[in-house]
Amino acid sequence: MAEDIIKIKGTREEQYQNLLPQIKALTAGEANHIANMANICAALKETFGFLWIGFYLVENEELVLGPFQGPVACTRISFGKGVCGTSWKEERIIVVDDVEQFPGHIACSSLSQSEIVVPVYYMNKIVGVLDVDSANLAEFNETDALYLKQICECVF
Ligand code: SME
Repeated sequence: MAEDIIKIKGTREEQYQNLLPQIKALTAGEANHIANMANICAALKETFGFLWIGFYLVENEELVLGPFQGPVACTRISFGKGVCGTSWKEERIIVVDDVEQFPGHIACSSLSQSEIVVPVYYMNKIVGVLDVDSANLAEFNETDALYLKQICECVF
C-alpha cells in the first residue's frame, strides 16, 4: 500500500526537493505508466494545490487526455495546437506567465491564468506531456521546469 505524501513548509524548491524522492519511491516499483501518472498528479495536487495537473498522451496526430487532478478538461488536442500541442511539436518545456498572451492557448478552464507544459519521453521519443495550470498569473518558473522534468522521468 502506498504511503501518504509528507508535505513540508518552505520555498517551492524545498517542497520539490522533499517531493521528488517520494515520487521516485512511489513509482519505482510500478511498471504501469498510467498508474504512475495518476499518482504523480495526486502527489502534485496534494503538495501544491495547483488548479489542474494532468497528462495528455500521444495517440496518432493528437494528444488525448490521460490521468489528471482538477476540473474536467478538453479531451483531444491536435499536434501544434495550444500550449500542449506546441510543447509536443517543438519538443520543449513551455512556461506561460499569462495564458491570454499565448497565441492559440486552449482554455479548458476560465480560471486558468498561467501554465507550464513538460514533454514526457519514452525511449527518446515524446509520448505525452504533463500540463500544470494555475489560477495565479506567472505561477511557474525555471524551478518548476527543472523538477517537473525529473518528475516526468518517473513515469516509465
Ligand atoms: N491550456 C492547454 C489545454 C489543456 S487544459 O489547460 C487542461 C493548452 O493550451 O494546450
